[in-house]
Amino acid sequence: MSAPEALPCLGVLVSGRGSNLQSIIDATRDGRLRAVVGIVISNRQHAAGLERARQAGIETRWINPKDFADRQAYDRELAAVLLDRSVQLVCLAGFMRLVTAPLLDAFSQSVVNIHPSLLPAFPGLEAQRQALEHGVRVSGVTVHLATAGLDDGPIVLQRAVPVLDGDTVETLSARILIEEHRAYPEAIQIVLDGDWHLDGRRFIRMRGNVAAT
Ligand code: GRF
Repeated sequence: MSAPEALPCLGVLVSGRGSNLQSIIDATRDGRLRAVVGIVISNRQHAAGLERARQAGIETRWINPKDFADRQAYDRELAAVLLDRSVQLVCLAGFMRLVTAPLLDAFSQSVVNIHPSLLPAFPGLEAQRQALEHGVRVSGVTVHLATAGLDDGPIVLQRAVPVLDGDTVETLSARILIEEHRAYPEAIQIVLDGDWHLDGRRFIRMRGNVAAT
């Protein structure tokens, strides 16, 4: 009998509470995502996401930006650690830093990010507050390939979330977060499946995009 094929290895970068990291870990364990999380790295020593990873028995690293001269040097180290662990896809999950060429070149078309709005609307911090204050009736979730730009890059998947009249930043954020936790593992699986190509900014799946549900 031949050996089972090794699952692709994910590296997840977090800065905070790590609920999206948790959704990825959970999905790898219940079979929705055919991958393993090989390492979780944070720029913040006490990121709760690191503790979630430790609880799940996953290797963690705190890489302190203060130990590096600039962003490029920091990202060179990130890339070296991720490559050393045979990571195939880097998942930014609330990683509060722009990523630069040394990481993006080492993982060409293989860095993904999740953002709590329908990009290109409301990039950056407090996307849910921006959406609410702008008065949009629909916001949502975007998973995209990362570029050096802020919340920029070809869109893999989006899910819409209605904005309700009584919403506060907290209630809207909570409703969007539920969709984030569904969308991120699904999008990661799509990227890993590899039956896609880019046409300019467009992420085109050979088998066609599945209608949003
Ligand atoms: C999420 O809303 C994600 O979309 C954004 O940052 C937040 C991270 O939350 N990029 P968590 O750390 O995954 O709980």
